[in-house]
Amino acid sequence: MTTIAVLGNGRVGGNLARALLRAGHQVTAVDREPGAAADAARAADVVINATPGAGSLERLTDLREELRGKILVDVSNATTDGPDGLPADLIHPGSSLAELLQEALPDTSVVKTLNTMLFPVMTAPASLAQAPTVFLSGEDQQAKRTVHALLTDLGWQPEWITDLGGIRTARATEAAILFVPHVIRSSGFAPFAISISR
Ligand SMILES: NC(=O)c1ccc[n+]([C@@H]2O[C@H](COP(=O)([O-])OP(=O)(O)OC[C@H]3O[C@@H](n4cnc5c(N)ncnc54)[C@H](OP(=O)(O)O)[C@@H]3O)[C@@H](O)[C@H]2O)c1
Repeated sequence: MTTIAVLGNGRVGGNLARALLRAGHQVTAVDREPGAAADAARAADVVINATPGAGSLERLTDLREELRGKILVDVSNATTDGPDGLPADLIHPGSSLAELLQEALPDTSVVKTLNTMLFPVMTAPASLAQAPTVFLSGEDQQAKRTVHALLTDLGWQPEWITDLGGIRTARATEAAILFVPHVIRSSGFAPFAISISR
């Protein structure tokens, strides 16, 4: 059992929190109530960032002490939105939120994952017609093993999990958000994941 704090209790955070709780973990999900994120992060071994990507760097850097020695799982996408409310552009082109988080939080193991799919797929990967891919990016191998185990608890088969390498690889998965508005405009909000087929 892992003690997990989920920051953000919206579509992604609420969905992940419920599924991880069902899997037997101790989970606290918090919204933007002042102090709640700090309290939850302090008590957790794994902290999941499911808040908007814009502002995540500042919000999580403010939790530097609470996140020291912890695993920070970043599922957010840092984008500006277009007039239709869909993601339009990257906030950190030429880098990524995950890289900037790791730089700002050197005593925390940042793992980027789950940001390349619509939220229902995160906790029901077997529901898609084709096997989806989930990517891992991060410097700390042990932290990635821990996150790998959490992914299998969420229903991810080991062969669907692709470790891309260090945190710099997150700039590839974060850039994949640029597919999302176009896929949604062409096919609606039917759940999908950006995946590698062979
Ligand atoms: N939706 C998806 O399918 C999907 C897929 C992959 C990745 N993501 C990423 O996951 C993250 C969450 O997306 P979502 O769809 O779950 O969004 P959401 O439904 O809008 O939920 C966002 C959560 O973050 C909280 N929040 C908003 N602003 C905050 C702030 N300034 N400080 C602290 N908490 C704040 C919200 O609280 P309030 O309710 O009080 O506003 C809410 O609990 C985003 O970074 C998104 O890019 C989403």
